[in-house]
Amino acid sequence: MNVALVTGTTGQDGSYLTEFLLAKGYDVHGVKRRSSSFNTERLEQVSRSEGHRPEHLSLHYADLADSASMTNLIRDIRPDEVYNLGAQSHVAVSFEIPEYTADVTGVGTVRMLEAIRASGVPARYYQASSSEMFGASPPPQNELTPFHPRSPYGCAKVFSYWTTVNYREAYGIHASNGILFNHESSRRGETFVTRKISRAVARIVEGMQETLTLGNLDAVRDWGYAPEYVEAMWLMLQQDEPNDYVIATGEGHSVREFVHEAFAHVGLDWSDYVKTDSRYERPSEVDALLGGPGKARELLGWQPKIKFRELVHHMVDADLRLLRDERAGQLVRIDI
Ligand code: NAP
Ligand code: GDD
Repeated sequence: MNVALVTGTTGQDGSYLTEFLLAKGYDVHGVKRRSSSFNTERLEQVSRSEGHRPEHLSLHYADLADSASMTNLIRDIRPDEVYNLGAQSHVAVSFEIPEYTADVTGVGTVRMLEAIRASGVPARYYQASSSEMFGASPPPQNELTPFHPRSPYGCAKVFSYWTTVNYREAYGIHASNGILFNHESSRRGETFVTRKISRAVARIVEGMQETLTLGNLDAVRDWGYAPEYVEAMWLMLQQDEPNDYVIATGEGHSVREFVHEAFAHVGLDWSDYVKTDSRYERPSEVDALLGGPGKARELLGWQPKIKFRELVHHMVDADLRLLRDERAGQLVRIDI
């Protein structure tokens, strides 16, 4: 049986990857952080998924800021595959806490790779790299596009990207970077723009909110569907040779288009509800991200199925169902 260690298992991607690996028959060990409130809500959804095998999922307290905790885990668990998804992942927040972001999102990667190297465990390694690394480089972006990060988060991810390449070249570790463009779902954190919009649309329909305040509506992103993207992570670690891949849909849409589509889906005109406020703008913005996933298609056989309109509709429908269930007193969360 394959054994996987997943950091960030309580996050959007970590929860889908955990679900995916359990369904493939893996023993999954997930890292969770100490928190004063519950932070395993997404894993509760995993536990309700079809074919869930609770005896094959173990959670461990550890932290990317604490190298001993990661070294001990890798030495004890001896994983075949390590997926490093843990991060301070919010770009706007990274301007407020740049040093912490550099530590967890940047140096955390050194801690993981050093733990693998020092333990001598021959684990394959996946690094959650990001299209945010391309920053100011004009679209379309692919594996050959130069990085020009525009945020402390982007800078930390560039450091992690090159650290991953360096451990591959220096120590022969099977270490791969997935350069993932934005990917969303009903499990997306509520402060990222897509979920903020889908949740607001649902609340406006239900009469619980009157307006939605956003920042820059002109930014363009290449938005895909998260469950499809975690399969790409796994595919990278099944290859004989480690490599770096862009994972994207190849379509770019503005935040304004997302807002329009989400409100139109419930028969509303977005301009009646949406306001803008500069407090949601960033000190330096990434204007346009649009990925070229040709290498992943060719070498991994990976292709996205769910594109922009379907994704927006799924997210709005899921938030409407969630809200209606909550109001009806049912705690069951319906997934898309
Ligand atoms: P997310 O929902 O914000 O999840 C981040 C995870 O990291 C959470 O489980 C979080 O724990 C954990 N974490 C935060 N600080 C940590 C620390 N100090 N030690 C250990 N774990 C820590 O992010 P996501 O959207 O799933 O993204 C997964 C990874 O892919 C991240 O590295 C992100 O930067 C990267 N990425 C995401 C996208 C995207 O569009 N989603 C695109 C490219 C790259 P808590 O639950 O306790 O907060
Ligand atoms: N969060 C947020 N909130 N973003 C807003 C808002 C708002 O109210 N209004 C406009 N935006 C714009 C942002 O300025 C940005 O241009 C775009 O919407 C997307 O913002 P986010 O959803 O926060 O995502 P992101 O692109 O900055 O970062 C996400 O994708 C990266 C990959 O490119 C995160 O998931 C990162 O972790 C990931 O690496």
